Amino acid sequence: MIPSLIETLKTTPRHIIVTEPTPLVRLNRLSDHLKVDLWIKRDDVAGPSFGGNKSRQLEYYFGAALAAKADTVLITGAVQSNFVRLAAAIAAQLGIEAVLQLEHRVDTVSEFYKTSGNVLLSQMLGAKIIYYPLGEDESGADEALYDEARKLKKQGKRPYVIPLGMNKPPLGALGYVNCAIEITEQVGKNKFDEVVIGSGSGASHIGMTAGIKHFSPNTKVIGSCVRREKTLQKKRLEALTPLFNTMIGTNVLEPSDLYLWDGALAPGYGEMGQHAAQAMKTLARFEGQIVDPVYTAKVFACITERCRAGIIVQGQKVLFIHSGGLGALFAYQNEIAKII
Ligand SMILES: Cc1ncc(COP(=O)(O)O)c(C=O)c1O
Repeated sequence: MIPSLIETLKTTPRHIIVTEPTPLVRLNRLSDHLKVDLWIKRDDVAGPSFGGNKSRQLEYYFGAALAAKADTVLITGAVQSNFVRLAAAIAAQLGIEAVLQLEHRVDTVSEFYKTSGNVLLSQMLGAKIIYYPLGEDESGADEALYDEARKLKKQGKRPYVIPLGMNKPPLGALGYVNCAIEITEQVGKNKFDEVVIGSGSGASHIGMTAGIKHFSPNTKVIGSCVRREKTLQKKRLEALTPLFNTMIGTNVLEPSDLYLWDGALAPGYGEMGQHAAQAMKTLARFEGQIVDPVYTAKVFACITERCRAGIIVQGQKVLFIHSGGLGALFAYQNEIAKII
């Protein structure tokens, strides 16, 4: 493996949150049904408060926050963001304050969306919640967070901002380089043909692809678009790739390594379409596994669609990264009730 990648993982401040390794389990009934060798990586159990992929990313952000002796972390995300809920949980574990900025990304009139799920959990976790009238792609969300941090500094606090914009190094991607290492160790010689993961901020996708490229070069990593359609997501990944490489200190990753599929994104971010609905039912009824309508159902749909299209062929070994999202489930109870 590339020495500077190992060195970066060793020397970057990290606050351990995840009990590693998370389980890697074969989905027997679905393997028979889809005629592939299908596995699940249970990152939904990574970290506290219903867990999720963001726990691995936050190990590095909290590592940096603790190194800076921060007493408050500030983070931005959607109203039903798992990232902000997990930041609130980890801040609670550490006895520091969390300021969560909830952006207006999803147009909905649902009271459950506004008050249940991750919003309720974040309140239980004792975080301070503020609102931002736009989504992070419309610009200004990070800046609003830095403004808030400046105000706290004036009051004598030591704030640390976890940024989301595509002009900042994707520090959290290191958590998914670790996940790739973990999977490689768990799977031994019998490697996967494909690994399918969500691509939103892009940090998990980038870290997983960089790690897999070096530990399992014949495995293809596919990012299922959960936040924005393929052409926009590609632009985001192209902006983040050089920042990731600079962080690692070598050109580990090229934008052409990052494959995207956006077939389950519709009707849009934070909304459940037909593919997501089908995926939720399939996983629940074949395997007793619960996925959420915003992220993980859209990741799993990528696998079934690739099987249906004959891109994943009979007998291939495929890994579904279950990245969590369960904190948001009951915010969508009206929508889910209609499809079961
Ligand atoms: C449950 C879940 N899965 C996947 C993703 C996408 O991960 P990333 O933002 O690293 O691309 C998110 C992002 O919030 C998430 O909450």
